[in-house]
Amino acid sequence: MNLLVTGSYGQLGKEMMKIASHDKTHQWFFTDIDTLDISDADAVEDYFSQHHIEYCINCAAYTAVDRAEDDEALARKVNVTAVQNLALSCQKHQATLIHISTDYVFDGMGSLPYREDDPTGPVSVYGKTKLEGEEALKATGCKSIIVRTAWLYSSTGKNFVKTMLQLAQNHDSINVVCDQKGTPTWAGDLASTLMLLIQHYGTQTVHETFHFTNEGVTTWDEFARAIFEIAHQECQVHSITTYQYPTRATRPAYSVLDKTKIKTVLGIDIPCWKDSLAKCIEELNKTT
Ligand SMILES: NC(=O)c1ccc[n+]([C@@H]2O[C@H](COP(=O)([O-])OP(=O)(O)OC[C@H]3O[C@@H](n4cnc5c(N)ncnc54)[C@H](OP(=O)(O)O)[C@@H]3O)[C@@H](O)[C@H]2O)c1
Repeated sequence: MNLLVTGSYGQLGKEMMKIASHDKTHQWFFTDIDTLDISDADAVEDYFSQHHIEYCINCAAYTAVDRAEDDEALARKVNVTAVQNLALSCQKHQATLIHISTDYVFDGMGSLPYREDDPTGPVSVYGKTKLEGEEALKATGCKSIIVRTAWLYSSTGKNFVKTMLQLAQNHDSINVVCDQKGTPTWAGDLASTLMLLIQHYGTQTVHETFHFTNEGVTTWDEFARAIFEIAHQECQVHSITTYQYPTRATRPAYSVLDKTKIKTVLGIDIPCWKDSLAKCIEELNKTT
């Protein structure tokens, strides 16, 4: 099949590239804003027409959660309009759109893992635009698989793991928020799972939403401690509350996603977040 990856310079996009480098069964097309600006509907349609795309894996997004509060127009252009463009071209060319969404579509007031059909209620511009993107996609009726994930990191790009390791270079101690619960997710595990979804559904008609994160639940301060422990870095973590660390965008306090559906449909076990964190840190050590 012909697979298009958009946003391929991002964390998830680069993990898809790694998979493609050992995959002989598909023809891969990798784009980012310099080669295919997905907010340009004509450019998207031209690309689909020229390359006979059968799956589009949309790894592109506006992901700057705090900046989005003051840049709503751009966040909406990338997270809504561009997603609609891809969905319309997928519908026209009978392609399937795999679209990545977020735990931030929920309000975080719950205390049980969120299921795919639980009521949404985003509390930030980023979350709101990501939810509107899901809705715009569904309205086109294209074949689609929406995968909501959370707390994504990889050995590339800008993320919590890399920020913590950088801070440890010149700080003996740092303050990290302790009252937000969620699950760190290695982009490598998400990328492999997207491939399993492609194998499972092939070209059949599909309209599904799934939740995927690594297994387990933690808080940002515990996540930071695990990073330092695995990376053998001496840096003390002081736990502080969200109130003591104000940010431009409100974050959900409870962001745990229920993964029962994806585990059942694909028949998979998902790695525990600490095991995948160790793999990512090992990868980082090899590259630095
Ligand atoms: N990061 C997280 O913690 C997290 C959590 C939950 C869900 N997600 C979702 O997971 C997905 C992947 O996230 P990620 O962390 O891999 O994202 P990322 O690293 O921010 O990568 C996104 C990529 O999309 C590109 N892009 C932006 N606008 C574009 C446009 N108009 N056309 C084409 N490409 C464009 C970006 O380019 P520039 O860098 O030049 O803007 C970047 O290369 C996203 O849908 C995100 O919402 C992420």
